[in-house]
Amino acid sequence: MSIFDEIGSVAENFHNKLDKIIDQEQIVDLKNKYLGRKGIVSNLFSQIGKVAAENRKKVGKSLNSLKNELTKKINEKDQQFSVSEEKSKKTDYSLPGYSFNKGSQHPITQSIDEMLDIFNHLGFDIAYGPEVETDWYNFGSLNFPKNHPARDMQDTFYTEGSGILRTHTSPVQTRFMTKNKPPVRIVAPGRVYRNEAISPRSYCVFNQIEGLYVDKDVTFSDLRGTLDMFCKMYFGSDVKLKFRTSYFPFTEPSAEVDVSCFLCDGKGCRVCKNTGWLEILGCGMIDPNVFKSVGYDPEKYNGFAFGLGVERMAMLKLGINDIRILYENDIEFLKQF
Ligand code: PHE
Repeated sequence: MSIFDEIGSVAENFHNKLDKIIDQEQIVDLKNKYLGRKGIVSNLFSQIGKVAAENRKKVGKSLNSLKNELTKKINEKDQQFSVSEEKSKKTDYSLPGYSFNKGSQHPITQSIDEMLDIFNHLGFDIAYGPEVETDWYNFGSLNFPKNHPARDMQDTFYTEGSGILRTHTSPVQTRFMTKNKPPVRIVAPGRVYRNEAISPRSYCVFNQIEGLYVDKDVTFSDLRGTLDMFCKMYFGSDVKLKFRTSYFPFTEPSAEVDVSCFLCDGKGCRVCKNTGWLEILGCGMIDPNVFKSVGYDPEKYNGFAFGLGVERMAMLKLGINDIRILYENDIEFLKQF
């Protein structure tokens, strides 16, 4: 039998078998048998060496067209089967659907909204400022002396160029006053950054809400009354506040406010450092130098400001004893809120 006859009969056999195929598995078998690495076609190719030199070209050509032909037929058959299989997969609309996990607001976002809501009730508007600040707004406009230790690299993150990540929301005070005339009654929420040791109560990024109230004849009792009212509305009327004298360059006099730690009922825990109290905010009467830096007349106007720590307050209210869990985005934790 000449090699050409052999090629002819291989093709014929192949077509017979192809016609009898009934599923995709058989297609795979047929393909392996004819076109596999040790299959019939490659076997024929390996015989080329034995063919008389003048015929080799012709044989090579017909082997190539055999191979192409078989490949084409196999692919066509394969296509037919996959189309009909596709059609047989009918959609069953009575099957139960997939359930989607619904997202929810982060507890910090919820807490900020709740706090802003209370301040809205007390008559405060909302203002915003940038997280990347200038030295002037973060420090200079707020009466920080040039060599104040808070400007030190240890507390402040600097960006490339001359920007700094704001270390508090107080720059929103001077930004707002620079653009608006008194009276002023705003709260400004936002993230702040500090290069501090990370612990159950401190993280390198956290949220504050700044408050600013400027008018004629504002007194320290207005400040106390506002904060007292706010804390009672947020924590409930049982909450106790403790005002401690303190120092900030931009307020005089200044105070820090602690609330009773009801994580431990005042018994002492790692969040309140075993004191039974948790510091939640700084506040005071606006320093006249701040008014001067924004072009307000300190003889005519006075006012108060405060900056409260959102995480600290939310932890107390929600019973969370480690601030870090608020930034881990653990779904099991977040689902609870
Ligand atoms: N900016 C101060 C801080 O981050 C808090 C503060 C705000 C104090 C406003 C007084 C007045 O610690």
